[in-house]
Amino acid sequence: MSGPDVAPAPPLTFVIFGATGDLTRRLLIPTLINMSRSGLVGDDLHILGIGIEPGGVDMLLERLDSFLATSGDMQEPERQEAWQSLRKRIAYISGDFTQNAVYDEISKYLSQAPSANAAFYLAVPPRFFGDVAEKLSANGLMNETAGAFRRIAIEKPFGHDLASARELNARLLSHANENQIYRIDHFLGKETVQNIMTTRFANMMIEALWNNNYIDHVQITAAELVDVGTRGKFYDSTGALRDMVPNHLFQLLAMVAMEPPNNFDAESIRNEKGKLLKALRIYSPEDAAKNGVRGAYTAGPLAGKDLPAYTGTADVAPDSSTETFVALKLLVDTWRWAGVPFYLRTGKALKARDTEIVITFRQVPFAQFPRPASRPQLPPNRLIIQVQPDEGLDMEISIKAPGLVLKTVPISLDFRYADRFDIGKQTGYESLFYELFVGDQTLFQRADGIEAGWAAVQPFLDLWAEGGKPDPYAPGSMGPACADDLIQRDGRAWHQPDEKPEGRQE
Ligand code: BG6
Repeated sequence: MSGPDVAPAPPLTFVIFGATGDLTRRLLIPTLINMSRSGLVGDDLHILGIGIEPGGVDMLLERLDSFLATSGDMQEPERQEAWQSLRKRIAYISGDFTQNAVYDEISKYLSQAPSANAAFYLAVPPRFFGDVAEKLSANGLMNETAGAFRRIAIEKPFGHDLASARELNARLLSHANENQIYRIDHFLGKETVQNIMTTRFANMMIEALWNNNYIDHVQITAAELVDVGTRGKFYDSTGALRDMVPNHLFQLLAMVAMEPPNNFDAESIRNEKGKLLKALRIYSPEDAAKNGVRGAYTAGPLAGKDLPAYTGTADVAPDSSTETFVALKLLVDTWRWAGVPFYLRTGKALKARDTEIVITFRQVPFAQFPRPASRPQLPPNRLIIQVQPDEGLDMEISIKAPGLVLKTVPISLDFRYADRFDIGKQTGYESLFYELFVGDQTLFQRADGIEAGWAAVQPFLDLWAEGGKPDPYAPGSMGPACADDLIQRDGRAWHQPDEKPEGRQE
């Protein structure tokens, strides 16, 4: 999506709870600047910041100005111009969002605003999501009247496990309708993630092969180079499984595995994604023990510095059994996917930043090509969806090497977004906010999908809550040895971040 292709969002007030926080200056404001610059929002966008810090709008603007001054991106005159225009449309209310007084003031502001449309973004600790929704509703702020919309946007975590996710959904839904709730999973803002549907459903040569007759297995990896760093407090009560799997990795999985929707509207797509997530096999405790492994990084060198062990990180319990790496083998019980394992892994302080989906096709039934006796099979075709970095798509096939001898070699047909398009400097939230403002829920999670995701990981949470420790792995590796065992026992191997087809055994 780019500016000229779509009409600007309708007039609205974007109300930010937590306006003086880090998220607002680091992400929300830069996103709105980008959107103004590219015409996704017009001069009728107003921003109302809510924060506990005393002071008026000058205090907020001063903070935003000094943060933006440190951003290299703001050197660009168009961005600067967009910010100068936007900052004139910012207001601030100082108050405590757990008390009614601030909601009275928001009501007053909105009743005098040029448009009664409002989107409330909750940049507050997740334990307050339910409270803020309740207060908004009790103060009449969720009432949609005479064509004016009222929407709430929240961002993961949506609960801590299945029970708390159900509780949160029930609470939100008692104060707002599902079509007013925008649950953000920022992975859905990534171009490459949105492209999965197009790759599948706009290409006969891909979708026709997209089933258990032709696909051997699927790998989904979200490897991170970054360590837990200053996030110890949050991370130690969360861990890699909760932080990444039922949300981000399952969104990738749902995009890859869902059935074609009847329509590309939000409900049709969310119905298919929900159906798929509900088809994930719910493991017994024994099966969970066989199909899930966890790790935690030890001390060691990483990217030129000495990284302390995870358990030596600030705000992490020294005897913590929280995992910083997880690998799972999951099954999707549908006709299309019966017998096709989905291997998922994610972790911190790994060898590289690499989010990718690797589809490995079955081997050809037999090949008459002369082959070494030790490797009678040709390497299977693979489709690699490179989500980040270096966004693109690689298709690995075998060809004949030039020469008189009939020799096959694997090669890769590569496509890189950056070679073909100007993908510019985006935060990844532009498309999410645009859809929030125009009222399209395609890129947002629905309650049933979230609960289905938690249901599939709950057996692992239960099992690990019983005791035991994650296996150690060295920083800069690709996780603990048990993750390799998980896939190798099926006669398969993880795709390596830097693996090239030329390096494959032909
Ligand atoms: C967040 C997690 O939701 O996603 C982080 O809380 C993680 O721990 C991040 O680092 C990964 O997102 P991205 O876009 O950097 O791949």
